Amino acid sequence: MKNKIKNLIRKKGRLPIVMLTAYSGSTSKILDKYCDAILVGDSLANTLYSMSNTHKVTIEMMILHARSVKMGIKKSILIVDMPLQTYDNKNMALKNAKKVMRETKCDAIKIESNKKNFDIVKHLVKSNIPVMGHIGFTPQFKKKFKVSGSSKIETNKLINEAKKIEEAGAFSIVLECIASASSKKITQALGIPTIGIGSSVNCDGQVLVTDDLVGLSGFTPRFVKKYSNVAKLIDKSVKKYSKEVKKRHFPKKNNSY
Ligand code: KIV
Repeated sequence: MKNKIKNLIRKKGRLPIVMLTAYSGSTSKILDKYCDAILVGDSLANTLYSMSNTHKVTIEMMILHARSVKMGIKKSILIVDMPLQTYDNKNMALKNAKKVMRETKCDAIKIESNKKNFDIVKHLVKSNIPVMGHIGFTPQFKKKFKVSGSSKIETNKLINEAKKIEEAGAFSIVLECIASASSKKITQALGIPTIGIGSSVNCDGQVLVTDDLVGLSGFTPRFVKKYSNVAKLIDKSVKKYSKEVKKRHFPKKNNSY
């Protein structure tokens, strides 16, 4: 296992882990200064490609974006999401994960849990592919949004699932939209870090979709904090550009050769 990943695991219970998504090198270059890990999430389906879910994302799309993201990274751990139907069985998962690792030079891959694919995590880890798990709301396998872990039964199921992923060798697990008290119990039950999205401060780290955080996606569920409004800034800039072009105020001499 790479030192970067070992250092991330060591942060558990000591220092909060910072993770964000990126789909291009121009963004990852900025994030790299502030993040421990950068995820090329299959959320690019919704954010970039206006798809209604992540189900049609291809491995080629992930590889293209991950290669761009890699170019902006000097220190952070680069994790790439494996799209749906690229890890249905051990052989398929290994073949595709190796392709992603080889062609993007990422440090790890992330796979969503369907509560049955623990043996796939184990197989990948045995073959030296570092794996991040993902439980709770897993958009590849769930049709409707739901917060999980609101009851004792659900919490125990989630703890069981997380433990199995840890036993299979994953180095970390994303907890998506899991109730606060449940996230706390899951985090306490594991020796590897949990990274929460919509799962409270009780996780070892946090991840958000960067486009949501900067106000570019227009997606602001309860768990997102919009730190800026980039959409407004682009609107303002483009409006001014359009006006200046129409009035022939742009380009000026100093913008010309
Ligand atoms: O696809 C994605 O961006 C993700 C994060 C929301 C964790 O899986």
